[in-house]
Amino acid sequence: MPATLTVNGQRVVAAPGLSLFALAEQAGVHVPTSCVTQGKCKECVVEVTRGLELLSAPTDFERHLDIPGGRFRLSCQCQVVAGTGEITCHTMRRGHMRIERSALNLQASHRTTQLDPVVVRHGERIIDTITGDEIDRSTGPIHGLAIDLGTTTIVVRLIDLETGVLVADTSFENPQRFGGSDVMSRIHYDTTHPGRLLMRTLAGYLSHAISDLPVDPRTIYDVVLVGNSTMRDIFFRQSVYSIGQNPYRSITELDMAAGKRTTTSLTTTGRRSLLPIHPNARVYGGPIISGHVGADAAACLLAVDLAHEERLIAIMDIGTNTELLVGNRHRVLAASCPAGPAFEGGAITCGMPGLDGAIEDVAFEDDGSVRLGVIGGGAPAGICGSGLVDLLSELLRTGRMNALGRFDDGIERITLDEQRGIHFFESDVNELAQAKGANIAGLEVVVNQYGIQFDEIETFYLAGGFGRHLKRAASKRIGLIPNFADDKIVQVGNAALEGATIALVSRSKREEIESLVKRIEHCRLETHPGFFDFFVDGCQFRPVGASTRTTSD
Ligand code: FES
Repeated sequence: MPATLTVNGQRVVAAPGLSLFALAEQAGVHVPTSCVTQGKCKECVVEVTRGLELLSAPTDFERHLDIPGGRFRLSCQCQVVAGTGEITCHTMRRGHMRIERSALNLQASHRTTQLDPVVVRHGERIIDTITGDEIDRSTGPIHGLAIDLGTTTIVVRLIDLETGVLVADTSFENPQRFGGSDVMSRIHYDTTHPGRLLMRTLAGYLSHAISDLPVDPRTIYDVVLVGNSTMRDIFFRQSVYSIGQNPYRSITELDMAAGKRTTTSLTTTGRRSLLPIHPNARVYGGPIISGHVGADAAACLLAVDLAHEERLIAIMDIGTNTELLVGNRHRVLAASCPAGPAFEGGAITCGMPGLDGAIEDVAFEDDGSVRLGVIGGGAPAGICGSGLVDLLSELLRTGRMNALGRFDDGIERITLDEQRGIHFFESDVNELAQAKGANIAGLEVVVNQYGIQFDEIETFYLAGGFGRHLKRAASKRIGLIPNFADDKIVQVGNAALEGATIALVSRSKREEIESLVKRIEHCRLETHPGFFDFFVDGCQFRPVGASTRTTSD
């Protein structure tokens, strides 16, 4: 029985001596590369989940992948050395991941924003209206990109800047995963490995995505990029060391405090960005709010039109680093909670991201059987965040788990699919309890510091891909979000991307967010005296605050 390789679900016979890159190509899987397998571009990373021992030893080109466990390899460098056995790997671009590209139910949108872009045409001259510089001479179209750079996923929108029309969009997983799954790991990686590998790998993937767009990339003259402080600063080649150290501030924030700059936003050119856009293009990284509350959270404020909002609102974007904003046009408080990867399937025995095969719905029937909903409709391979919320809610509802997260006596594990070995353990509950506890404690602290009660919040925006797919009833039952009336909860999808798009089509909106972020108060959770008590309470699975109303999903 010869060795086999399964890459992104495609299986081929793996003859000894062939590289994983060559075998992936044979299997019809395209592995990103810019160096034609020379070991230089670092884009061909794969994650090997089975059969690492069947591969050749890491080469010098792979020194940057010295992560414990060693499961990341450069596919062009590692060869099959065994004659039998099974190897399973996937590229950093697995495909079929559910990535939120759209936004909905928002107060503002790029479609309704008056077109007023930074880059405009004067006859044949294409002008940057901020610097007054001529970027190009052309009668061709003028395009711009809005990019949401998340720790886990990346979404790109292509906009015609002369009409404001969305031409195309694309999304992919952040290929920096080999540097860790959360921002603190990426900071550690970036500061301990020379060569800006995270930035270069990302630029390589972004370049491929941009080249695949249905326009000449050199007609892209403006880019608005948002992301958390770490993702944004890595892209702009800033040192991220200070974001990982107490008091967790971006170098731009420190420089601003020292009077060395007047904004935390960053600007570079197409040439320096390494993207295949016009070399003189303007590339703008939106301003960050403070600490880990980054340019993505700031962009959300444009999408909910906070500058004109009289009502008290809250925005919660649940992720490995949950961002919280509470306030109105008169006063805004912001905070970030290090929730960790549990709700993205990380650190959970059978957890997985929202890819095809992930269980996203769980219901226990009266006869004791379990009904599962699976992304893509095929066989289950694991459980993703929204499935975990459903599962916890069902365990509570049926009394199989108590509010402390303990299973009923005699239950050692919950089996979701016996045949495929998909089980859920009490230890998994603990991971989720802590993630949930951090989120809700963060919100309690912000609301407390604002001097209001949950009941006074008139609209609760759940932003981001995870928030988009949550069931409100289940989320409230386990206390992941406060027990708001259903009509107060608005699931808005990728509000950060919408905000970035608004800033792309409107110079005045870009100026609005620049001035708004300067008056946002940053709430430092780690120094708040009540945080620990809120956290301990928040780890319990029961409804939190606010008024109750019958819910239906
Ligand atoms: S293809 Fe460039 S490093 Fe492997």
